[in-house]
Amino acid sequence: MHHLLQLSALLCAVLLQGAICDTLDDPCQIMPQGPPDAHTTIDVQADPTCHNGTFWWNYPRGFIRLHFQHKTSPYFLVCLKDYLGGSIFKLYDVTSDMKHAMPSVTPDSSKEVCTNAHHFGIVILFEASGSMKYMGEVAYRIQPIYPV
Ligand SMILES: *[C@@H]1O[C@H](CO)[C@@H](O)[C@H](O)[C@H]1NC(C)=O
Repeated sequence: MHHLLQLSALLCAVLLQGAICDTLDDPCQIMPQGPPDAHTTIDVQADPTCHNGTFWWNYPRGFIRLHFQHKTSPYFLVCLKDYLGGSIFKLYDVTSDMKHAMPSVTPDSSKEVCTNAHHFGIVILFEASGSMKYMGEVAYRIQPIYPV
């Protein structure tokens, strides 16, 4: 799949000017190269200027800690919903030392799953266990909490 993405990027550069090219350039679309095996955890940073976007993990296996930062409000939460196959992930809010299990997103994409409110940073652990899938993608949204 990474070869396919490289090929797509190449095609964008030399041939095409379409929606797929915009997608590849979008800093709010997080498309990490996952860990090499099912026992490894890697850390991935979301672009702190992004208020929403997607997290797209190809051939997911193992664990990804996704780090969010938000500049405009000290307290915020992160809400996730299914985008495409995102229900395969087990989700944990691991911002603090305590590991809080979150519900998985459901294929009903209108329903959101949110972390607790934290300040300055939020970390969500994505676990991809079970049978290997082609991909999983969730949409994320930063929800600032303004003082009243
Ligand atoms: C991000 O927010 C914009 C504006 O509300 C919306 O049009 C877009 O669909 C959102 N993107 C995702 C991936 O949810």
